[in-house]
Amino acid sequence: MIVHLNGRFLADRDASISPLDRGFLFGDGVYEVVRAFDGTLVEAARHWTRLARSLREVRIPGGAFGAEAMSDLARWLLEENGLKRGHAIVYVEITRGSASPRTHHFPTAGTAPTIFAYASPFVPVDGHRIHGVPIILAPDERWGRCDIKSVNLLPNAMAKQLAVEAGAWETVFVRGGRITEGTSSNLFAVIDGVLRTHPTTHAILGGVTRDVVLEIARSSGLTVDEAAFTVAELESADEAYLTSTTNDVMPVVRVDAATIGGGEPGAMPRRLGEALRRLLYAGRAAGG
Ligand code: PDD
Repeated sequence: MIVHLNGRFLADRDASISPLDRGFLFGDGVYEVVRAFDGTLVEAARHWTRLARSLREVRIPGGAFGAEAMSDLARWLLEENGLKRGHAIVYVEITRGSASPRTHHFPTAGTAPTIFAYASPFVPVDGHRIHGVPIILAPDERWGRCDIKSVNLLPNAMAKQLAVEAGAWETVFVRGGRITEGTSSNLFAVIDGVLRTHPTTHAILGGVTRDVVLEIARSSGLTVDEAAFTVAELESADEAYLTSTTNDVMPVVRVDAATIGGGEPGAMPRRLGEALRRLLYAGRAAGG
């Protein structure tokens, strides 16, 4: 695989990062995951806007990582790795760079951020969409700035492992009795005919897929409310689904022991999912 590291394209086995890199020592970095279809980046503008925001919020200088530079980089990686046909993902991570000695406070001004990126083939999880997936709940023990797409993903990794061990697809976090989001996805539910999802506060990542699905839902005339819902409301919801760059729209049919929608994917997730995939993967992707 040809990857990108600090301005160079090279084989992944030749790419090396200093052990003093702050991404390694402190998790001091941010990232994005972007889908590509037939060489076109999907919703690239929204992903690069969110990357710029994450950089700004953690005060990593972002001047070199604008939308045009990021799209060019992503397209190069797709090209270099023979991924101009079919589905692929592009991963981009930017850290505060490396500096010696190790200090908790930021290194001196002028320390170059580290940028690492790769593209790899992606197989959409279409099979699971037909039957829907089970999820489990876990306490949201993450920090108070989940709106920043930081590489500090230990709580997410630990919670996702619980899902794997329980034979579930995803773990969804609960904070103060209300659902926030999944370890790497947002959650929607249809409650009393209203499509609901957690609002974009500091408690969740404002998902790109979440935004697109909300736009599709509103333009199809559905009643939408960005209002957090309780565990009890989720367990008695008519329909529920996860959204993310890698899931698209994934119907949820079980939450812990509670069955959702009679154990079958609901009509709304199917309709929204089809609309999303038509929009995103039919050569009409925005900002690519
Ligand atoms: N994760 N919430 C969290 C905590 C996430 O990590 C993600 C995405 C989302 C959904 O965001 P989007 O629709 O923009 O993908 C919500 C990516 C896919 C990842 O970490 O691999």
